[in-house]
Amino acid sequence: MSAETEVKRRIQEKGKITFEEFMSIALYWPQGGYYAGREPVGAVGDYYTSPAVHPAFGALLAVQLYQMWEIMERPSVFTVLELGAGNGLLSRDITGYASHLPGSFARTLRYVCLDRRQVTRLLDSNRVLADAIPFRGLEGCVLSNEYLDAFAVHQVVMDSGVLKEVHVALEDGNLAQVLDEPADAALARRLDFLGITLTEGQTAEINLGLEKWAGDLSGALEHGFTLTVDYGRTAPDLYNPELRRRGTLVTYHQHVQTDAPLRRIGEQDITAQVDFTSAMRLGEDAGLSTLGLVKQSEFLANMGLGHFQRHTRGQDLPPRHMRANLAGLVDLVRPGGLGDFKVLAHGKNVGLPDLWGLEQSTESQRLVESLPAPLLTPEHLWLDQGNPFGGEVEFEAFWPESGPENPGGTESQPN
Ligand SMILES: C[S@@+](CC[C@H](N)C(=O)[O-])C[C@H]1O[C@@H](n2cnc3c(N)ncnc32)[C@H](O)[C@@H]1O
Repeated sequence: MSAETEVKRRIQEKGKITFEEFMSIALYWPQGGYYAGREPVGAVGDYYTSPAVHPAFGALLAVQLYQMWEIMERPSVFTVLELGAGNGLLSRDITGYASHLPGSFARTLRYVCLDRRQVTRLLDSNRVLADAIPFRGLEGCVLSNEYLDAFAVHQVVMDSGVLKEVHVALEDGNLAQVLDEPADAALARRLDFLGITLTEGQTAEINLGLEKWAGDLSGALEHGFTLTVDYGRTAPDLYNPELRRRGTLVTYHQHVQTDAPLRRIGEQDITAQVDFTSAMRLGEDAGLSTLGLVKQSEFLANMGLGHFQRHTRGQDLPPRHMRANLAGLVDLVRPGGLGDFKVLAHGKNVGLPDLWGLEQSTESQRLVESLPAPLLTPEHLWLDQGNPFGGEVEFEAFWPESGPENPGGTESQPN
């Protein structure tokens, strides 16, 4: 049964389903859901993510993990659990780069990839198939990149002064969005928790999965850190009615962004920006301490990305390799694109240490200056021609300015 058939079957059974239930089927239904049986990341997919753009992303995360290991006084087993690990490229880059780091860090590193779907394995590390965190007592770091933005979200609208929820129903045999009472009182509670009142006609996405995520994270971690990288904003910015009146939900199909989630069911990605205020505060409520929230561009610069750029320029590389590597490095910090992603760090039973990525430190700069610059491998994207996907769209068109064509102000994030 295809994802679309399942959506229609449930609507016929119940009269209507919430947008969140629709999105969950469209993305994760085992037969023909978007994430079933396809690799969405990369030139032949629908979008790309930082690990695919340049291995410097994984290398600098490895350096950050190394500092965490030092702060924790070098445990003999340092576990990194990566949530939503997808094709495993980030795990390969991190574990590969760890061998350049001092001491016995690489030997103590135990890397576990977790994903809800079976994907092509790039490496023979531990891989867990699960849609929640089935661990306890971890000592190390729980890491994710673009994991929370792949959760199904509820959509609410302020309609004549009353909070309504977007549902999906059938009208003349076609799927249509309709407004009805919120199916879950937790939606209004979340807005109250954030102190947000939507203005008349404003649409907002709410990720109710964040409570469970925060509880699972804290429940799994005994001693250590979390690093959550994703695109999103703090709540006052995310729910600003002047800037994002229509919310931030977008769809991606072959690198083209639209906002028509009821079309191409199972063939396009559906995603919404992450509410980092909830991610921070729900983490705190679950027993984690917030250590900081910075833009990806700041995080990578603080860690020492500039040294990798200089080292790369100083190498004797074929011109195509040089162009591709420098383009990838720039892309990781591009304003309006990956550079505006956020990095959130939490700690548990580690006090409130200064993490290198959250504020510039001479220690990190000195260490990274002494390390080799990682270079693109065949598994990464090669942004050397300015038009990496072979389509008609210019490279720069992936980061258009927010404007009238982009009314949600979602800034055409490269997902
Ligand atoms: C946008 S992709 C990112 C993949 C990878 N982290 C990257 O940066 O390229 C999101 C990934 O999260 C996984 N995912 C989403 N919800 C999940 C859940 N509840 N449990 C485990 N994996 C999940 C999806 O299957 C998908 O592989």
